[in-house]
Amino acid sequence: MKISHNKILITGGASGIGFGMAQRFIQEGNTVIVCGRRETALQEAADKLPGLITKQADLQTEAGREELYTWIAKGHPDVNVLVNNAGIQQWMHVTDADFYQKAKDEMATNVEAPLHLTSLFLQLKSLNTILNVTSGLSFVPLIRTPVYSATKAFSHSFTLSLREMLRAKNIEVIEVIPPALNTDLGGKGLHGHAPPVSDFIEAIFAQLKEGKTELTFGFSQIASQAGQEILKPVFAKMNQLG
Ligand SMILES: NC(=O)c1ccc[n+]([C@@H]2O[C@H](COP(=O)([O-])OP(=O)(O)OC[C@H]3O[C@@H](n4cnc5c(N)ncnc54)[C@H](OP(=O)(O)O)[C@@H]3O)[C@@H](O)[C@H]2O)c1
Repeated sequence: MKISHNKILITGGASGIGFGMAQRFIQEGNTVIVCGRRETALQEAADKLPGLITKQADLQTEAGREELYTWIAKGHPDVNVLVNNAGIQQWMHVTDADFYQKAKDEMATNVEAPLHLTSLFLQLKSLNTILNVTSGLSFVPLIRTPVYSATKAFSHSFTLSLREMLRAKNIEVIEVIPPALNTDLGGKGLHGHAPPVSDFIEAIFAQLKEGKTELTFGFSQIASQAGQEILKPVFAKMNQLG
């Protein structure tokens, strides 16, 4: 993708990886809009990044996604880049009493929202790039986040098909594949052991500038290219099996 002079919507861009991308895209000379549920997080992001445009939106519901799209189509029809970044992660066990409800919430936010937004935003005449944020867990699941891992495997698979479906329309589809990073994903402190977002952002922007369409870092670079002979032992080790 071209790195500057875009108008970009980043879902979940007020915190973590989305905020890191928003900051860097602004530095590179783009106009950036971010959305999320929490007004306070949006306000804090706007205070830190002059020029950032914010919009409160709940992407877990169809109505929330449609409202966001209508707002964009009216006020920012020149958006040419959609970044499907918003996501939630919950630890759960299939025997939990609330397992199915939690699973539905995760599937609505991590699967249904990017699918629905993609289909809506393709109505924008200016749209030429879609970035989908998947995960190293797309390739090898973490058992304590079983549904999250499966949503990311879904996203990875769909992104491969999407890229080919949109090739003839000259819409570029880029997969952003983070490894574990130090954000508030899943709750404060759960990812405290992981590398900072800033190192990841440096690495993926260098790859974007090289024209790459699968952006990886550390573990995700290995996992996204490995065969079962590597992934099976990683699965056992990561999940402390046997
Ligand atoms: N950190 C990691 O280790 C890691 C690794 C691989 C992939 N990822 C992926 O990276 C993406 C960003 O996660 P992160 O690590 O940066 O965590 P994060 O800071 O918690 O960011 C998630 C963002 O999504 C937004 N969001 C969640 N539910 C939403 C909803 N219903 N409607 C609108 N916005 C919603 C949140 O804002 P509100 O709460 O205000 O709505 C938040 O800004 C996710 O897709 C995640 O799966 C993260």
